[in-house]
Formats: sequence, structure tokens, C-alpha cells
Amino acid sequence: MPKVKVNPSGKTFVAHTYESVLQAGLNAGVALEYGCSNGNCGECTARLISGEICKIRHHDFVLSEQEKLSGHFPMCCYQAESDLVIEAIEASGVADIPLQKIKVRVKKIEQLNEQIIQLHLRTPRSNRLRFMAGQSVKLGGEGIPDGIYQVASCPCDDMNLYFHIPNIPGDGFSEYVFEGGLAKSDELDLRGPKGRFVLGADIARPLLLISWHTGFASMQSLIEHAIAVETEKDVYLYRLSPIANDHYLDNLCRAWADAFDNINYTPLPDRYTLMSEAVEGEETLRNIVRRHDDILNMEVYVAAPPSLTESAKKLFRELGLQENQVHLEPIALGFYDI
Ligand code: FES
Repeated sequence: MPKVKVNPSGKTFVAHTYESVLQAGLNAGVALEYGCSNGNCGECTARLISGEICKIRHHDFVLSEQEKLSGHFPMCCYQAESDLVIEAIEASGVADIPLQKIKVRVKKIEQLNEQIIQLHLRTPRSNRLRFMAGQSVKLGGEGIPDGIYQVASCPCDDMNLYFHIPNIPGDGFSEYVFEGGLAKSDELDLRGPKGRFVLGADIARPLLLISWHTGFASMQSLIEHAIAVETEKDVYLYRLSPIANDHYLDNLCRAWADAFDNINYTPLPDRYTLMSEAVEGEETLRNIVRRHDDILNMEVYVAAPPSLTESAKKLFRELGLQENQVHLEPIALGFYDI
């Protein structure tokens, strides 16, 4: 299968014969610049430095004669016929990802347990969501209250988006979903992405991921991205739950740990409540940190109630981690903070 090398980053990926150069790059976790995926916008234009490409889709976007002569081509409309070296723009951070407004359809509504519903939304083929692992979007629609949720899936699949909706009495979107307001094929407005709780373009250090309840949504996206880019760095996932031994999608986490030597999963058995005063939260974090002698060399992500993210901020600063090593995402407590 042809290999594609992207300059100037030097990243490489394998391009299967049935996919465009753009899709192959995205599947491999390379954050290539693009827009419509459909030959209309020209935002995925790259320059072919060496190798053979073959057109697989018509494009309305028009390249100038000068661009054609210098080897420019829209990556969404061509596939690799041989090994390629291309010059292309890649997103290096959240500032490179534009805010988007997309009409999405409900593909599936799945009740994972009494407190969590997993929403599977699908974008149109010609208007997919470009985002970084860990980011959030706003969901809503006509007559539907707005809600902000972390995307739980990998940016490498920009058409199929998953969300973990917690049951939060008094929260408009949550009540709408839990009371059966949303049905398969309904249309929703999606705006976003937003948020700086993201995995960088390159994974340079081992990852320590700590989540409480639906904070796991971000972790799922981070881990699926780490798998897509085939990181060799160790990934340690610790999960806390408001109910003892109740970690939704536990089987998925165990499957990752079974399939990948570098992914480690520890569901913490005790019930961790919001009553968790800072002291209790800090003790939980200290117990986790004690297992990692190399904590100073790790990149830490905590998605949890504000009391726990505050404890994390204090603890990791005290331990000597740099600010850019610690990523915190305070999440809504919902039912459990009553
Ligand atoms: S992404 Fe719009 S032309 Fe390729």
C-alpha cells in the first residue's frame, strides 16, 4: 500500500486504494487542513512533490494554471497510486480549527445505564466536523434547549460523532433527551468545536488520564486518537464513578487494555461523590500519583467535578509539573451534587 509523507512535519501514513489522500491522512490521525471533503472549497489543497496520484472525484473548486503546474491538488479528490511526498498544511492547535455550524442527524440513541444516554449523530457527507480530540460542541435546535457536550469519538471519523449525555434534572437538553423528546433521524444544530482540553498534534509524553462519570467522554476521544496515531507512549486511564463499581462502557476500556500493550485501565472501585470535599479528592489523586514514579515526565488530563480539578491543579503544581503538562476540564455534576 502506498505511503504518504507530509512535509514539512515529516508525518507519514498509509493510503489504502479505496480512500482519498485526505481521508487516509485523517484516519491516521494527521490533522490535515480541509473543509467540505467534497471538492468544493479548496481548503484541502496540497502540493505533490513526488509520486503518482489519480483523480477519484470531480471537484468544482478551480485551481489556477499556475497551481496545476506546480503540482497542487485537492486531497479529497485524489488517491495515491504510489508512495507520495506532499506539502500540506496541518492544524497545530485549536486556533487552527474553525468554528463550524452543522445540521446533524440522530443516528442512534442508546441508554447505557439509568444515568447516561449515548447519542450517535451523523454529519452530512459534505459538511463534516473538524475538531481535535477532547473538544466540545453545543447541541440544540428549533424548540430544543442548548447543551454543551464533549465529543466522545475520534477526530479521525468526522462524520460519526458520539456524545455521553448525563441525566441532569433541570438541565434543558438532558431532560429533553431523557424524557424521550429526541428520536432517530431528528435534526440538531451543532456549533463548535470549542475548548483547549485537547491532545496536542504530537504525543510527546506518557499520558495520565483521570475522569469522573461523563468526563470519560473526553478520555474516549483522546484514547481513540492516540490509537489512530499509533502512539507508543504509555497511556494510563483511571476512572471514578458516582456509584461504586459503575463505569459505563467499562468493556470498551477493557478491550483497549487487552488490545494495546501501552494502554492501561484502572476503574477505581469506590464510589467517588461530589461530596468529595477537596481533601477527599486530593487523597484520591495522591493515591493515583503514587503509582507513577515518572509523574514529572507525564502529560496529565483530568475531567471531573470542579472540586477535583481544583485539587488536581494544586497537587500537580506542588509536585512540580509545568502548567502546559496539566489539562483540566471541570464538568457538570448533575444529579450527584444534590
Ligand atoms: S476539503 Fe473542500 S475541496 Fe477538499
